[in-house]
Amino acid sequence: MPASSTPVDVSVAPRHIRFDVREELKTLWHGNDVFRTAFFNALSLQFPEGEQQFINAVRHYRDRITDPKLAQEIRGFIGQEALHSREHKDYNEALKARGYDVDAIDRRFHKHMEWVHRLPPSRQLAGTCGAEHYTAVLANAILSHPEWMEGATPTMQRLWRWHAIEETEHKSVAFDVYRACIGDERLRRVVFLFVTYNFFKYTFLNTCSLLKAEGKLWSLRTWLGGVNFLWGRPGVLRRCLPEFLAYFRKDFHPWQQDNRTLLQENLRQLEAETAAG
Ligand SMILES: [Fe+2]
Ligand SMILES: [Fe+2]
Repeated sequence: MPASSTPVDVSVAPRHIRFDVREELKTLWHGNDVFRTAFFNALSLQFPEGEQQFINAVRHYRDRITDPKLAQEIRGFIGQEALHSREHKDYNEALKARGYDVDAIDRRFHKHMEWVHRLPPSRQLAGTCGAEHYTAVLANAILSHPEWMEGATPTMQRLWRWHAIEETEHKSVAFDVYRACIGDERLRRVVFLFVTYNFFKYTFLNTCSLLKAEGKLWSLRTWLGGVNFLWGRPGVLRRCLPEFLAYFRKDFHPWQQDNRTLLQENLRQLEAETAAG
């Protein structure tokens, strides 16, 4: 049985697109909303090191993969994550211009990642599958609810759409490698608990650091707006919650949520926007 479960009409290959968002990042680019901007920036701050870790975790097992389709998808996955990491490095570097202490935020996350690096490779891969699940669910949400990105500058919308498209394309690559090489369902789910804790912890801490720099850490109004955005209406996290939890099912697989039509629509839009410059 081939190890790859990515549908045959989905290709996992990096797109060499560059985004110049330096000017945008000096502003509250998400509709002039301090919380929404901080939330997305907080996610971005975890990407370069996180995605490098995903690459390392998968690379460790690539020699054991005999299915040529999955081997090809691993190459695509590494290429995509490497480019995401590069673009988000530039993104995060540009955040400094707004006065954020990005180095301090990086140091805090780096400490956590040093702990991750010391884990056995099987747990690192299980962690990658869990983190990829979070990115895949959030990616699906970004693609299916364009209103969540309403008010964001066009280039930022394009950057987040590009990243969400590629996260969707490669959502089962690490998972397939895990199934082929480790396959321990209990470990997969236990590690997901740790991933969940750390994902929310660092997203929250980063958001707080950015709000503090904006002088809004203790602003009730900002937090009410933020809680409403995440848990009320539109309720980004509230709407994603059932999908996050689906990972605990014994027979879970990323493509159980078949969002290929959504993927194709967004790809067409990205291509049109890229052609228009
Ligand atoms: Fe990525
Ligand atoms: Fe990814």
